[in-house]
Amino acid sequence: MKFLVTGGAGFIGSAVVRHIINETANSVVNVDKLTYAGNLKSVASIADSNRYAFEQADICDAAAMAALFEKHQPDALMHLAAESHVDRFT
Ligand SMILES: NC(=O)c1ccc[n+]([C@@H]2O[C@H](COP(=O)([O-])OP(=O)(O)OC[C@H]3O[C@@H](n4cnc5c(N)ncnc54)[C@H](O)[C@@H]3O)[C@@H](O)[C@H]2O)c1
Repeated sequence: MKFLVTGGAGFIGSAVVRHIINETANSVVNVDKLTYAGNLKSVASIADSNRYAFEQADICDAAAMAALFEKHQPDALMHLAAESHVDRFT
């Protein structure tokens, strides 16, 4: 099974991406715009897996999303991209 995870460089998304690669036999496509909140170091430990792919894209770009769905043909979508600004509350 192939998951497409949006926001996979964020706090929650990166944990999901690591879990899928480390704890299951499934594949994952990580789609993230890499805003202030995105950090690819959070998925560096699994980035070399042949079941992992990263695509830098904006989920608001419908044409880019359509192209990624056509390219990767995912079985399931987990939408975790957000501008939650959780880490900006002090
Ligand atoms: N952090 C928590 O404790 C928590 C708890 C419950 C629910 N949630 C929910 O989980 C979701 C993710 O939260 P988080 O804490 O991981 O956020 P985060 O800010 O850590 O990560 C968000 C990710 O989305 C990416 N992103 C933002 N806009 C994008 C866009 N237009 N296109 C593509 N990627 C984009 C960012 O680059 C970043 O990697 C939110 O809906 C949040 O409400 C979070």
